[in-house]
Amino acid sequence: MLTVSNLSVQFGKRVLFDEVNTVFTQGNCYGIIGANGAGKSTFLKILSGEIDPTSGSVSLEKRKRMSVLSQDHFAFDEYPVLETVMMGNKPLFDLKKELDAIYAKPDFNEEDGIKAGELGADYEEMGGWTAESEAAGLLSSLGIKEDMHYTLMKDIDGKAKVRVLLAQALFGNPDVLIMDEPTNDLDFETITWLENFLANYDNTVIVVSHDRHFLDAVCTNISDIDFGKMNQYSGNYSFWYESSQLAARQRAQQNKKAEEKKKELEEFIRRFSANVAKSKQATSRKKMIDKLNISDIKPSSRRYPAIIFEREREAGDQILHVENLSKKIDGELMFKDIDINLAKGDKVVLLSKASRAATAFYEIITGNDRADSGDYKWGVTTTQAYLPIDNSNFFNNNLSLVDWLRQYAKTEEEREEVNIRGFLGKMIFSGEEALKQSNVLSGGEKVRCMLSRMMMTRANVLLIDQPTNHLDLESIQAFNNALKNFKGTVIFSTHDHEFAQTVANRIIEITPNGVIDRYMSFDEYLENSKIKEMRKKMYVS
Ligand SMILES: Nc1ncnc2c1ncn2[C@@H]1O[C@H](COP(=O)(O)OP(=O)(O)O)[C@@H](O)[C@H]1O
Ligand SMILES: [Mg+2]
Repeated sequence: MLTVSNLSVQFGKRVLFDEVNTVFTQGNCYGIIGANGAGKSTFLKILSGEIDPTSGSVSLEKRKRMSVLSQDHFAFDEYPVLETVMMGNKPLFDLKKELDAIYAKPDFNEEDGIKAGELGADYEEMGGWTAESEAAGLLSSLGIKEDMHYTLMKDIDGKAKVRVLLAQALFGNPDVLIMDEPTNDLDFETITWLENFLANYDNTVIVVSHDRHFLDAVCTNISDIDFGKMNQYSGNYSFWYESSQLAARQRAQQNKKAEEKKKELEEFIRRFSANVAKSKQATSRKKMIDKLNISDIKPSSRRYPAIIFEREREAGDQILHVENLSKKIDGELMFKDIDINLAKGDKVVLLSKASRAATAFYEIITGNDRADSGDYKWGVTTTQAYLPIDNSNFFNNNLSLVDWLRQYAKTEEEREEVNIRGFLGKMIFSGEEALKQSNVLSGGEKVRCMLSRMMMTRANVLLIDQPTNHLDLESIQAFNNALKNFKGTVIFSTHDHEFAQTVANRIIEITPNGVIDRYMSFDEYLENSKIKEMRKKMYVS
């Protein structure tokens, strides 16, 4: 058990935590959520002892070990892969070093022998002799093959590095495992691996994440940081979100009887638990989610942006026709011979292993860049709104947000301040906020402006490159709902599993050897063994 008592944290005048009391219990997985800057990373650093609180304390039960997933991808550059993993269990690793040093002594004497014997016994008790093969096994299960185990960390690529650091954190089964946004920079396969691993991991996990699919797959509890306090809820992220929304709606229904409301909540819990039971994920964690309780449900006080995409007109049957499209960037082949015919109402998740390929594709079909060969044609009744991954060009002036958005208005009516403020207000820029200068915005605020612009465009085709980048969970959730409800056509690329699974009805993967194009859900696509085979072949040049 990890206990947090009377914890307060203050940076200058800013109070991040005010007398927080909470416990993290053995066997649970806690998802820490809260707005950008709420103090999630700071909280984890305090738990791990990396920084001290202003007052209060954190205590871990005796003889329990905590481990932290390292976010510094360069810290172990000079060490071989296998050794980096073993360093994850520091007491064991230090003991090994001590033992090695004794055996390496040129004047090894009887005393050394006795000492080595004692240390060896400790080492054995800690599972030292099997540690190396465990570390190797862990690496292999993460897809780091044996021929790489003795390579220096600085000589392996970014994706592999992230996996080695994961293995380091998991090595030796820590009692408490702490992770700050572990799914960042991971591909879907690795995230799925991590979800399954953590779902079946018996020890305590405390994790900050914006990835709703991940939070749902692994969490038994949600810890919400809001206004300097931390509130704990049972259940995973979806349960927290949906139940708190339901409770908030109920609060507004004044003439509904308390008895009816209670019934409605109970029915909600029943349905939710049945769905969890059906999911493939989380065997041991799943059992804990069965114990959901009506008293855990509190109405949400969060403000969610109101993202609603309306269309000025409905598109005809011709949406987009792409023929033989190919593109290289800096000599690297992004995709070749891409043929696509979009149908009305398609919601396509666009995939590629080359991270820049989807962006290159959007830039071409929006006319910002040219293909090396091939052609594309938009239906005459279509209008497009594009959310680029890089929006910096839109923000190099010092216009107020109202004037910034006004640049994109098409009619006199749209240019009026009430209209402009309406779209800004939907993204929670109200009053003074709407007069901020556009060149001082944070990454998240810029994306919110781009979304206001997109809504105002009222296009019937949306092109979206990484919708969840820079956004907080509230905005991601609202954006996701908006695309589910949108009646037009969408093409999007995302790292967010939940987004892809709940929005897309069609998957198109663009590769150096043409497309893989399927009408199916994202999960079906990832799991289909024929497609897996195909994906392997399509990237071979
Ligand atoms: N060492 C520090 N000194 C002053 N302010 C800090 C320090 N560390 C973090 N902050 C501030 O505290 C707030 C919370 O930061 P952080 O814990 O990183 O937030 P989160 O992870 O929830 O986005 C931010 O406003 C950040 O700028
Ligand atoms: Mg953080």
